[in-house]
Amino acid sequence: MSVPETTATALIALDAMADGGFAETDASIDGDSESVVLYREGDQVRAWLNICPHAGRRLDWAPGQFLKSKEGHLVCAAHGASFSLENGDCVAGPCRGDRLRAVSVQVRDGQVWLA
Ligand code: FES
Repeated sequence: MSVPETTATALIALDAMADGGFAETDASIDGDSESVVLYREGDQVRAWLNICPHAGRRLDWAPGQFLKSKEGHLVCAAHGASFSLENGDCVAGPCRGDRLRAVSVQVRDGQVWLA
């Protein structure tokens, strides 16, 4: 019996991200290439589409460069909406009550994969 070929590729190595830091990568989601923001906390990584629910802009001010407030929120570079890094909820700013779209990822063998 042959093993099915897999085209899965890791999004990023866990070690390429600082603890408490962000990374950005493209991922194929539902057949579309999307920019994804990844956030590392210890050995855990959470991910969301790099699209702000306020006006649909990217969250980073330059590719892969994200703002983090002193309260520990991800801040959209366009108009300053703040998002919880626990669940992606917008906790302040123009889209308060809305949320980032979560992307399921898992850490395996020191790499971050789409789950
Ligand atoms: S597009 Fe993010 S706050 Fe306006």
